[in-house]
Amino acid sequence: MRIDVFTLFPEAFAWFERQVHVSRARDHGVELNLWNYRDTTPLRHCQVDDTPYGGGAGMVLRIDVVWAALEAAFDCPPDRLAATRRIVELTPRGRQLDDALAAELAGGDLCVLCGRYEGIDERVAHLVSDRVSVGPYVLAGGELAAQVLLDAVVRKIEGAVSNPESVAGDSFSPDLGGALEYPHYTRPAEFRGWEVPAVLLSGDHGAVERWRRERLGDGERREQS
Ligand code: 6GU
Repeated sequence: MRIDVFTLFPEAFAWFERQVHVSRARDHGVELNLWNYRDTTPLRHCQVDDTPYGGGAGMVLRIDVVWAALEAAFDCPPDRLAATRRIVELTPRGRQLDDALAAELAGGDLCVLCGRYEGIDERVAHLVSDRVSVGPYVLAGGELAAQVLLDAVVRKIEGAVSNPESVAGDSFSPDLGGALEYPHYTRPAEFRGWEVPAVLLSGDHGAVERWRRERLGDGERREQS
């Protein structure tokens, strides 16, 4: 599997690249490439963006700049690339990311386009297969959104997480019927009078299982109880 990320700030991914599940994925043959739009811009002075037609605030990433970056990275005309892989534009106007979409995107080669400022020229629609948002709020750029998406995707890749059960039983996974995982506790058994539920210390595996099943999907509610 090959993952290509296009950004104006590749250094923003340094922490992400150091994560254990990412290096494990690489050890299992995942190729993760970071590309800087500035390195291949056809414009002078490393220009990559421009003011919006029709006026208004902010800058828009140019479509010719995106095209040149894709052309340099792939041995394929950029407008044909979506036939060989998912190409995701990160935008707050996209489809909201969920577990099912992360699993889909983990199923083959993936290309991720980060925007900045006011985003990418709308004609990028001719190049992408998906437009994805990470939630109903606006971030200054796509880099954090890309890392949210890639973190969720990489977890789905075989070998990225050492214990496959820990992925299968993740919150929102089909194994849990889309529910949230049960709550976890560790030592000490009592802290400032706050006690761990006695059943978890009982050694009765059947009772522990039942207790956990009853608590699937509690989410917000359990903080209030
Ligand atoms: Cl993908 N990008 C930006 N800039 N803001 C967002 C987003 C993406 N998803 C939610 N907010």
